[in-house]
Amino acid sequence: MKIAIIGAGNVGKALAKSSIKAGHQVTLSAGSPQSAAEAAKATGARAAGSNVEAVEGAELVIVAVPYDKLGDVFRGLGSAVDGKVVVDATNHINAQNPGEVLGVASNAEEIQKRHPKVRVVKAFNYAFATRMADPNVDGTRLDGFVAGDDQAAKDKALELVGSIGFRPIDAGPLVMARVLEGMALLNVTLQIRHAWPWQNGWKLVGPPSD
Ligand SMILES: NC(=O)c1ccc[n+]([C@@H]2O[C@H](COP(=O)([O-])OP(=O)(O)OC[C@H]3O[C@@H](n4cnc5c(N)ncnc54)[C@H](OP(=O)(O)O)[C@@H]3O)[C@@H](O)[C@H]2O)c1
Repeated sequence: MKIAIIGAGNVGKALAKSSIKAGHQVTLSAGSPQSAAEAAKATGARAAGSNVEAVEGAELVIVAVPYDKLGDVFRGLGSAVDGKVVVDATNHINAQNPGEVLGVASNAEEIQKRHPKVRVVKAFNYAFATRMADPNVDGTRLDGFVAGDDQAAKDKALELVGSIGFRPIDAGPLVMARVLEGMALLNVTLQIRHAWPWQNGWKLVGPPSD
């Protein structure tokens, strides 16, 4: 699969590594072409000089930028992502005041509302970047939830999620991105509150047990 990843930080690099390992072709872009080039060199991806260049010919686009950069990214992309499957991997975490981010629309829904021609899917945000690079913990395959309203777009994202080693799970419509973003907030809160080592990932136990 031809994948574009916008954002070449912890998440962009981790997903580039695991996607390339799974046989996908990855193009990375970042805030600066130099940062994209460095991340591409470190991961084996191709670097793009801009976000628009990165998404050219991509079958699936992953957005892995800080929450407050989403507006800039989509304004810059314009119609270049119309009709494309766009996987939103972002979170808006406020561990000090979780009430600020709970109970409001998810980042994914906001993107979909502002860009109705984009086929928005939510995935990966609930996992730490280290787990995106390798979604196995002591032999247990972590769950890879995908939420979205466009079934074909969701199926494409589920294919990617499964190919890099998660157990792919259809989590329902895009509004479920609120839950997936809440899961990320809970995991981050637990690491801080209990001084855990930022290694936990989500696995729903019970049947089916694979
Ligand atoms: N870290 C995690 O474990 C984790 C897990 C799940 C979800 N998330 C979420 O995923 C997102 C990325 O997290 P991260 O830890 O990877 O952040 P990060 O390490 O700070 O990387 C952010 C990346 O976004 C790029 N960027 C900023 N503005 C951009 C723009 N206008 N166009 C293209 N790229 C731009 C930056 O470019 P430069 O390199 O040029 O600065 C950088 O490469 C956040 O929303 C975060 O909440 C993080």
